[in-house]
Amino acid sequence: MYKTKAYSAASATSPLASTSITRRDPTESDVQIEILFCGICHSDLHQVRNEWSGFMPTAYPCVPGHEIVGRVTKVGSAVTRFKPGDLAAVGCLVDSDGTCPECKAGFEQFCPNLTLTYNFLDKHLGGVTYGGYSDSIVVTERFVLDVPSNLNLAGAAPLLCAGITTYSPMRHWDVTKGKKVGVVGLGGLGHMAVKFAHALGAQTVVFTTSPGKKDDALRLGADEVVISRNADEMTKHAGSFDFILDAVSADHDINAFIQLLRRDGNLCLVGAPEKPLSVSAFGLLFGRRSLSGSPIGGLPETQEMLDFCGKHNITTDVEVIPIQKVNEAYERLLKADVKYRFSIDMASLKSE
Ligand SMILES: NC(=O)c1ccc[n+]([C@@H]2O[C@H](COP(=O)([O-])OP(=O)(O)OC[C@H]3O[C@@H](n4cnc5c(N)ncnc54)[C@H](OP(=O)(O)O)[C@@H]3O)[C@@H](O)[C@H]2O)c1
Ligand SMILES: [Zn+2]
Ligand SMILES: [Zn+2]
Repeated sequence: MYKTKAYSAASATSPLASTSITRRDPTESDVQIEILFCGICHSDLHQVRNEWSGFMPTAYPCVPGHEIVGRVTKVGSAVTRFKPGDLAAVGCLVDSDGTCPECKAGFEQFCPNLTLTYNFLDKHLGGVTYGGYSDSIVVTERFVLDVPSNLNLAGAAPLLCAGITTYSPMRHWDVTKGKKVGVVGLGGLGHMAVKFAHALGAQTVVFTTSPGKKDDALRLGADEVVISRNADEMTKHAGSFDFILDAVSADHDINAFIQLLRRDGNLCLVGAPEKPLSVSAFGLLFGRRSLSGSPIGGLPETQEMLDFCGKHNITTDVEVIPIQKVNEAYERLLKADVKYRFSIDMASLKSE
């Protein structure tokens, strides 16, 4: 075991602060990575503040972060795909059983024995796993991904959650040319959804509560922008969407979006607000519409997404911050004031 620097929260009401945590020494199948950038996902904030207590209560201290890119510093003797000096990435998963039907199909995100990157039982050290707001991490090779060499690293880190979480449902529900696709909420996930929907050839409409984001939405690839609090603008799109991806982090009225689906259309939730959302049965049954959800993605699809981004030169639009600004960044996330993902430059942790 060795010590490494990190930022952790001591309770649901404490700010994140500098600390030191223990990592395992790399075993024969492990890759040790020096973390260069880690994105800030709204899920980090939900979990640091124990907002998902009913579903996955937070264990403290909590070291969040699951959008990790870095450089390999050490590999175990059985590791074949990485060597020291290589770039590497880690997302929301760090382990699974590898033997169940979901794992065999490459759907590790559905494995009943998965291990999430933070706030999950650590099978090696006991206690809970610690995430990417730290100097280094040790991960079994199967969960380490390749970063295309042409991508900016600060902007590539958030692909590991915001990227795969929006890419996966769009592939699953066949977002292609000729489809009309909506994206609700232009935050970290939402802005990636716009880039992917556009790259996949769909007619893309952004729904935002922030009129000031309109020009950005068009620049990111939207064909049209609707201010979702304007009922007239919403009504114009009634019954017209094949697919809508909802990436909103807080309570909101999803019935207003279900009304915009055409027959057999699908509203997919990727946003995970603290409180349950209410659904009108009528919106679904008239039009045989579906309401669905989608969590992150498996390893093969995450690599596919990274390679897609390499090929199309897609990264997240980031505001790079030092770790010392993380608490301020959380407050700005709550005000929907980020363009469009915070990416922490982990070199800033060295001075702590
Ligand atoms: N399914 C998964 O596997 C998965 C993975 C990662 C994250 N998530 C969840 O997805 C959600 C979004 O994450 P994120 O990192 O993209 O968050 P984010 O950057 O904070 O973006 C959320 C966006 O939602 C909109 N919004 C916020 N409050 C709203 C309100 N009260 N009413 C309507 N719209 C509101 C805002 O967009 P506008 O300003 O455009 O309105 C905001 O920018 C979070 O709940 C997160 O936990 C789920
Ligand atoms: Zn995330
Ligand atoms: Zn499994």
